[in-house]
Amino acid sequence: MGETRPIPGAAAQAIDNLLDGCAAVQRDQHVVVLAAVDGLSGGTNIVDETAIGWIQQGIQARGAHATVMWVDLPVRRAVIWPDIPTRETVWRIPGPVKSVMRDADTLISHVLDFSTEEELKEWPELLAETKVPFVRNMATTAALLSTAWARTPHAFVSELRLRTAELIRAGSRWELINPNGTHLEGTVGPATSNWGSYTAPRGRRGSFPEGIYPAINPVDMQGELVFDRMLPVWARDIGVPPSFARPVTVTIQDNHIVKFEGGAEARILRAFYVELAKVLGEDHGYEMRAPHGGIHPAARIRPSQCPDEEYREFLHSFHPSSIHLHLGNHRYNDDFPYCLHSAPELRGSTLKVGGQVLHDGDRLGVMDHPSVVAMAAEYPDRPAADAGRWI
Ligand SMILES: [Fe+2]
Repeated sequence: MGETRPIPGAAAQAIDNLLDGCAAVQRDQHVVVLAAVDGLSGGTNIVDETAIGWIQQGIQARGAHATVMWVDLPVRRAVIWPDIPTRETVWRIPGPVKSVMRDADTLISHVLDFSTEEELKEWPELLAETKVPFVRNMATTAALLSTAWARTPHAFVSELRLRTAELIRAGSRWELINPNGTHLEGTVGPATSNWGSYTAPRGRRGSFPEGIYPAINPVDMQGELVFDRMLPVWARDIGVPPSFARPVTVTIQDNHIVKFEGGAEARILRAFYVELAKVLGEDHGYEMRAPHGGIHPAARIRPSQCPDEEYREFLHSFHPSSIHLHLGNHRYNDDFPYCLHSAPELRGSTLKVGGQVLHDGDRLGVMDHPSVVAMAAEYPDRPAADAGRWI
């Protein structure tokens, strides 16, 4: 699949940011680039051949070897219930993908369905087994590579993530408030993420652009959660629209969902969680996890840069204005095949931990941290301190 379109300066900056800043591609390495063919024709794994061609050229320009694999994924139902699949019946990562993972020096994936947070457990398990360094590139098209979001220096966004994560200390009290009526509070438990702590280095797994800090592990969460949007992957899996006609109110006691109230979406969620509880058990089916939120100050994408509204809104969830929670815990039933990321999203909230501000409306609390200010000064000609002006 050749590509001869010239690379605009903006996309060239983003590709340098991806290959040097995030993936750290080195001479003589074998880099496997994954994309899914459905994404060329209206499928969920949005991608274009131009972006893949430019990234392939960028890898080769660094003296490394690029192997591009276009994957044809199994066709399957969007809504996963009733009859929630098991490890035996769920779709599988195609065998050829598993083969290349074993021999690649680095893997750069453009496949939304290959997510460590939102889809098959098989994917993070394969990453752990093969130990292949992995980057999930979410700037999957030529237009998305040309955005301020993709050009924001990777090291700067990592600094925002780290400084925000530093504020999350086990034992502190946290409070989440939104003008829509949401008021939740609880205590911070120890980190449950793969990194083992809120601030541990990301190791072999990266996300490009970076966008989020590890979820707060909540203890004794209480209050009311009001939401009218859900992150698209699990909205699709459950069968609710990403943007609701009526808000849903969830009452939470002792870290568990007590009831859903609202309109049609509340009825669907109520029925889904009855089915989920049959698989995960009442305790874990209704368990609350997170919150966590976006840290990327330029995660605002114009419709012309991403005409697909669901994918665009997914990317907006990495902006500091967005916070989400996780409903249900998949970790205690090995036969449940998914990383459950049923994620009600709030925009424009205040989140405090130990009295310190993580999010205040559209703003990230650490923007004034001395190390953030100092690093932003290193990039006067890139989206950083004034990221909003570059969008
Ligand atoms: Fe999440």
